[in-house]
Amino acid sequence: MSDPMRPRAALRTAVVWEVLQEAIDRRVKATGRESLDVLDTGGGSGNFAVPVARLGHRVTVVDPSPNALFALERRAAEAGVADRVQGVQGDAHGLFEVVERGRYDVVLCHGVLEYVDDPAEGIGNVVAALRSEGVLSLLASGLGGAVLARALAGHFKEARQALDDPDGRWGTGDPVPRRFTADQLTALVEGAGLAVAAVHGVRVFADLVPGVLVDTEPGALEALLKLEEAAAELPAFHSVATQLHVLGETRGAAEA
Ligand SMILES: C[S@@+](CC[C@H](N)C(=O)[O-])C[C@H]1O[C@@H](n2cnc3c(N)ncnc32)[C@H](O)[C@@H]1O
Repeated sequence: MSDPMRPRAALRTAVVWEVLQEAIDRRVKATGRESLDVLDTGGGSGNFAVPVARLGHRVTVVDPSPNALFALERRAAEAGVADRVQGVQGDAHGLFEVVERGRYDVVLCHGVLEYVDDPAEGIGNVVAALRSEGVLSLLASGLGGAVLARALAGHFKEARQALDDPDGRWGTGDPVPRRFTADQLTALVEGAGLAVAAVHGVRVFADLVPGVLVDTEPGALEALLKLEEAAAELPAFHSVATQLHVLGETRGAAEA
């Protein structure tokens, strides 16, 4: 899915995309329908929505930002999938003012729980948009990754503050309102009534490695991508990942 002009972008998205694509493939097989209904809550300018539409699925993006929705429309048109991508202005809390409950096979909630007023209510709404058999793809900022990054940059007091802060923030200048541990995210997913199918650590190394090492050494990017993929599955690395991905399934889908 990553832009071939920006191969480093793959470092940020490859693990999530791999897991998501496999989950979508399983849903296609289980439902016998080639084209699924996908909801991307806080989908922004379509980093995931557009590639999912390119697989042949119908994607509704709900996002509060008119600018993001404008960029989404342009991007979908450029990718030739404008007929399969619908952008709607709205947010996770008022989700059912703009989309139908229980209508989607797959729901994405990527980089949004950090910003909503109430994560439990937000994820509850996102999950309520699923059909009785469906899959949730949840991506959120990891607490440990932020602590590690601040410490390695020499900001030891900020690293300590993030560690102690209930929201995992390193200070008033921190642009991210809230971060999560893997346990907190899986508890949110289970609290919304889903079974946790998988947890992956995302960007375990990518944000810590100096760019020059990746850009100048032949084969370094590919090797780092493979390392990210291997570490993503290992619980030991979840606690230091920049982001955490949780795949949730309705009980019906988990048994399918
Ligand atoms: C970090 S961006 C992630 C965009 C996209 N999901 C991705 O993975 O590239 C966060 C997005 O969440 C949206 N957002 C912020 N608050 C939200 C809310 N309460 N409900 C839904 N989306 C929200 C923002 O407008 C923005 O597009």
